[in-house]
Amino acid sequence: MSVRRLAEENVQPAAFAFSKDNAVWAKATIKKYPKGREQSAVIPLLMRAQEQDGWVTKAAIESVADMLAMPYIRVLEVATFYTQFQLKPVGTRAHVQVCGTTPCMLRGSEDLISLCKKRIHPNPLTPNEAGTLSWEEVECQGTCVNAPMVMIFKDTYEDLTVPQLEYIIDRFDAGKGSDVKPGPQIDRIFSAPVGGPTTLLAPEKKAAAPRAKKASDSAAVSVPPSYAARPKTDAPETDPTLKTPATAKAESAANDKIAGDTKAEGGAKAAVAVAKPSLEDKNRPAGIAKPDAPDDLKLISGVGPKIEGTLHELGIFTFAQVAGWKKAERDWVDGYLNFKGRIERDDWVKQAKALAKGGEAEYIKVFGKKPR
Ligand code: FES
Repeated sequence: MSVRRLAEENVQPAAFAFSKDNAVWAKATIKKYPKGREQSAVIPLLMRAQEQDGWVTKAAIESVADMLAMPYIRVLEVATFYTQFQLKPVGTRAHVQVCGTTPCMLRGSEDLISLCKKRIHPNPLTPNEAGTLSWEEVECQGTCVNAPMVMIFKDTYEDLTVPQLEYIIDRFDAGKGSDVKPGPQIDRIFSAPVGGPTTLLAPEKKAAAPRAKKASDSAAVSVPPSYAARPKTDAPETDPTLKTPATAKAESAANDKIAGDTKAEGGAKAAVAVAKPSLEDKNRPAGIAKPDAPDDLKLISGVGPKIEGTLHELGIFTFAQVAGWKKAERDWVDGYLNFKGRIERDDWVKQAKALAKGGEAEYIKVFGKKPR
């Protein structure tokens, strides 16, 4: 968390005055509040002062206090409390406020901060050499569900990865920040589930509901592929932020593994654009009637309760069935679940063969670990 103090005296201007237009606006804004409640205009006035000068100076605080007949200390309290107010000069083209609170931290904000240190300046609240960019870590900005995120001026940029943030910073530095659409930087609407609604669906719609993509599968909406693939040759070897494509790929695979079946299920829930294979397709694996004691398909890594339910709907109840799937059948199921190759990657057939042959004991013998 940044320390909220006024800038040193030597950078403080001697006086502050709203421009002619802003003075008219300020007067009208104060008038919006009932008599005796004019102090409620303190935040909009401070914000306008910041927009005019780029940061909130001591003179601006005193000027706003005078306009609202408030003690200086009261306005100072407001200005120093909210991180939206910049108390010293910041980047003229972008001041990147990276949320470092728990949800964002768990989703990678430390990597975003490392990027800011590398790309902008090692120290927060310190403009880069050209004076165009600066950054700081801030507390929760209220878009936790789309973590990690940054705020630049009044806009938030969410669901970020390091390459996406690097792209955004580059656009702002080039004076083209308006090229980047604020909000989620993946294929989702506001904070809706990735891929579309997954709950509160009518039963008949539920079966046909779009299957959600994993967040990691969602294409960044505005980052040229070169950003994701750009090698970080100037990165310190120990800097975890600046990952090579190979590292990123390995991490992604590791993350998939950690996320386990739950994530796998989430990944299979919906896909807006991918056409689901037809149930009439000749490659659909043959189903059977539900046996009295179906196998626990959830023992196969990548199958959770919902995927098991879908397999049951397809008439798949036993390990032996899965073990017998030919390539075309595996591809059909993979497409039906929108698994993007997960069935092959997790080798469902090998897992199912072991489970069909000797249950958990055989699985341990083959894979050296318990199923799931
Ligand atoms: S924790 Fe980052 S926006 Fe809430």
